[in-house]
Amino acid sequence: MTKTSSNAMWGGRFAAGPDAIMEAINASIGYDKRMAAQDIQGSRAHAAMLAAQGIITDTDAAAIREGLLTVLSEIEAGSFEFSTALEDIHMNVEARLKEIIGEPAGRLHTARSRNDQVATDFRLWVRDQIDAAISGLNALIRALLTQAEAGADWVMPGFTHLQTAQPVTWGHHMMAYVEMFGRDMSRFSDARARMNESPLGSAALAGTSFPIDRHMTAEALGFDRPTANSLDAVSDRDFALEFLAASSICAMHLSRFAEELVIWSSAQFRFVTLSDRFSTGSSIMPQKKNPDAAELIRAKVGRIFGSNVALMMVMKGLPLAYSKDMQEDKEQVFDAADNLMLALAAMEGMVKDMSANRPSLEAAAGSGFSTATDLADWLVRALNMPFRDAHHVTGALVALAESKGCDLPDLTLADMQGVHGAITDEVFGVLGVQNSVASRVSYGGTAPAQVRAQIARWQEKLA
Ligand code: ARG
Repeated sequence: MTKTSSNAMWGGRFAAGPDAIMEAINASIGYDKRMAAQDIQGSRAHAAMLAAQGIITDTDAAAIREGLLTVLSEIEAGSFEFSTALEDIHMNVEARLKEIIGEPAGRLHTARSRNDQVATDFRLWVRDQIDAAISGLNALIRALLTQAEAGADWVMPGFTHLQTAQPVTWGHHMMAYVEMFGRDMSRFSDARARMNESPLGSAALAGTSFPIDRHMTAEALGFDRPTANSLDAVSDRDFALEFLAASSICAMHLSRFAEELVIWSSAQFRFVTLSDRFSTGSSIMPQKKNPDAAELIRAKVGRIFGSNVALMMVMKGLPLAYSKDMQEDKEQVFDAADNLMLALAAMEGMVKDMSANRPSLEAAAGSGFSTATDLADWLVRALNMPFRDAHHVTGALVALAESKGCDLPDLTLADMQGVHGAITDEVFGVLGVQNSVASRVSYGGTAPAQVRAQIARWQEKLA
């Protein structure tokens, strides 16, 4: 035989083995070994189905299923020797199975191709990551709810343009992120529901002439149903793209929150103290306590969204059905998943540990003329002024306070009446930040009662 150096799995028509460079560019085993458990799970389901349909014998199926468990335990124990010559996880597992059980191993690939096999393995892998993302988000939301509950009525400045806008509550701010992470969670579950179909049995691209039962394998693998078109099933990776898209949006939310934590923990703000467990020191400046975890979370969106873009570019323009380009899907998804889970866990840890600095929040809440809108609203309500005029009068009062170097509540009644004669001392009732937040009772507003209602709704939802 001259064919010893050609691939044992498909070497039939090859006289020579691949060039070393060919092997290097072609092999995916370096990373797709992460799908070993899914590959073996899929193969075990396939073998059971082949036997149930009388395509292989029960004896062969039993040997295959047993042997695959041995392979799995070798991989888990770290004693499995992965071979680059065998390209990928699928052929590595099958080749080892052959060494263990001999001839029946060769029957496993009946009515199957690596194309439907990899599509199945990858869906199973992505599905696990979706579940992990959902539970990571769940934990993060719980941590945020605890923060929100503790500070449902603590006042702090609300910003637009990062300029003081109106006072809000700490609870309200925490709950804003609960809403965002809640939508992230639902994006992951939507994606899960759409992707949960089994490609197994689509074979190379056209289906198979063997009397397989795709419903049986779909059910065994926890899929809702088999995919309905074999060409589509082996050649789309939209499920991976949806995972990356949902991950990107989630990472973007994490990044925004991380940025706020970076700002809030600075000496200039002092809104929060991050725990030592999630901070680092400086090797030269002894006073430093840096919010590194927050900064790294802030950065993760770069690589996660990068993965999303990369896989979109790989997929665009590919003709049906499978092309080897698609092997480039995995590293992107692996890297994005690893980093998303890490970012979620780090954020959860930071939120659990962080302590809000209530006096700083309160002091900042009242600065920057944050109750100017309350003053304008009062002019509308008490003096029946058109809002545009009230806005103008308030602007003049702010300018006056600014020139005197004080805040709005520090102006005297005489100061106020100098700007508009009809103002009464009743106005001082709306200038305090507590009154300001308590008055914002519109649904979804910052009033503590509204915030507590939203906390209760979420607690019920997660229970
Ligand atoms: N390692 C390959 C991948 O990840 C498996 C599928 C190979 N299929 C093929 N027709 N060569 O895409």
